[in-house]
This record gives sequence, C-alpha cells and structure tokens, in this order.
Amino acid sequence: MDRVALLDAIARQPASGEELALRFGVSRAAVWKAIEALRAEGLGIDGRRGYRLVDPRGFGRITLSWRCGRPVRYFQEVDSTNRVAREAAICGESPIVVADRQTAGRGRQGRRWESPAGMNLLFSIVMRPHLAPQLAPRAVLGLAAVMAEVLGVWLKWPNDLVDLDGRKLGGVLAEMESAGEWVRHIVLGVGINVNQERFPEHLPEATSLRRLRGQEIDRAELLGRLVRAIDAVDVEDPALLDRWRARSRTIGRRVRVNTLGGPVEGVATGVRDDGALLVSGRPVLAGDVELV
Ligand code: BTN
Repeated sequence: MDRVALLDAIARQPASGEELALRFGVSRAAVWKAIEALRAEGLGIDGRRGYRLVDPRGFGRITLSWRCGRPVRYFQEVDSTNRVAREAAICGESPIVVADRQTAGRGRQGRRWESPAGMNLLFSIVMRPHLAPQLAPRAVLGLAAVMAEVLGVWLKWPNDLVDLDGRKLGGVLAEMESAGEWVRHIVLGVGINVNQERFPEHLPEATSLRRLRGQEIDRAELLGRLVRAIDAVDVEDPALLDRWRARSRTIGRRVRVNTLGGPVEGVATGVRDDGALLVSGRPVLAGDVELV
C-alpha cells in the first residue's frame, strides 16, 4: 500500500483500521503493518481510537517523502549521496537522495564532508536546467541563497552557509555534466549541520542551527521546507544572483581568497554571472574565502 498516502491520511484526521483498509483497498493486517513501518521511522501514532499522527518527528523514506511532497531515496548509510544521485542522473532519473550517514561524504576542493549519524542533513538533488554550462554557477549561487533564506542564515562565497560571524553551518557541492552547449544535469549536494552540538577540534569555525537557535530541530520538517523552496525556483532566472547578493557576508568585505595559484587579497566587490568573485576587480573562479 502507499505508505506516504497513509501517513498523509492519518496526519489530517484520525481513521480506523477498517476505514483505511477500505480506502486503500487492502486488508486490515496490511494497514497495521504499514502503521508499524511508520512507527519504525520514529513517528508517534496513537492507535487507541483509530490511528492518528500525534508526533510528526521521524526520519526515514516515508516521512521524508511525505515532508518533501515527492519520492525520496533514503539510505541509513551510503558512501556519498552525490555519487548515488549522479548515477541516477546518468540513467535519466531526477531523484532526491538523502542519507543519515555517509562513509565517504565529499566536500568542495577535494575535501571530505564529515557528519555524525542521526543529527544533520545530507542530501543531493538532481536538476536539469536549460542553461549553458558557464551559467550553472549562477544557478547554484541562487539555490544556496534560497536555502539561506529558508534557514535564516548567510552566505560566504561561493556557497557556504554561515552565521553572522561567518561560522560555517553548511555547504554545497554542485557537480555538473554538460553535453555540448547545454547542461545535461547538475547534482546539488547539500550538507547542513542541524542538531550537532560538538565539533572536532580541527573544525573550530563550524557551528549548527541548533547552536544558533538553542533548540533541537525537526530535520525532516526542515528538509521538506528546503526541497519545496528549491523546487519552486526558476534556476534559469538571472535575478537569482540578487538573492545571493542580499544574503552575502562576502561582498563589500576585505577578503583573502586561497586559490590554487596562491592567495588573492582585496575587497570583494561582486560576483559575475559565471560565479566568479571579483576581488578588487580581479575575477577569482575557485578558492576559499577568509574575511580579513
Ligand atoms: C563543502 O565543502 O562546503 C560542500 C559540502 C557538501 C556536502 C554534501 S553532504 C551531501 C552531499 N553528498 C556528498 O558527498 N557531499 C554533499
């Protein structure tokens, strides 16, 4: 039976096993089994006078698909959601891939992305914009801006989600494939520190939403809001860059960008359509920004 539709039904109003069996055209035993599967994801379901969702906090395929409004491919553990999403994209699929834990999470500039199980958000979305490859960075900056708006946080060039003091609470790893003049797909990989409170010593600048807000956050509910906001974006819209600028903690600041060719220092004056940061007029295409 469609467990996402079942969850939706009991979230709206209580319903007896018999009623649900009739509505979904299955046996009462099948309803009971599906209810147990929902409970196994951590959802609180009262079964005394009909089934009723009393605590919507859960994390698993059914809960996440319900929250996101479209099917989610969920892994308790996987090497990298970007790897899974890319393979699906090559096969013509456009899934959202979510993991509770990654064994080989990838970060920008060849780094690893570490995140303990059960606390944070790790997901990848496949997008197929009708864009020239050189405009893909603009789309990704815009998507990071949309996420920063949802989270109420800021951005450090290019796509780091940061608090007002520049402490990092999330990042984006976008991997693009193109065919000739057009983007074939973009895998938007997102890692957000949600409920993590302690960080390893080698990451003194890391923080989380929980630290910012001082309370635990429902990860599935947050993912649902992020995915719905991302799905609503026209990634081809040039005005997306204005949303990035409005959330930026980089523009107008004195920065040092550590690039492969050495550090570039100056005032960050803007971003170009190809995503380059203008540092005292010089375009920088890739690197890590330090505010100085
Ligand atoms: C960064 O270095 O700032 C970007 C980090 C992006 C990490 C996310 S976690 C989900 C997705 N899968 C990966 O392997 N990486 C991205």
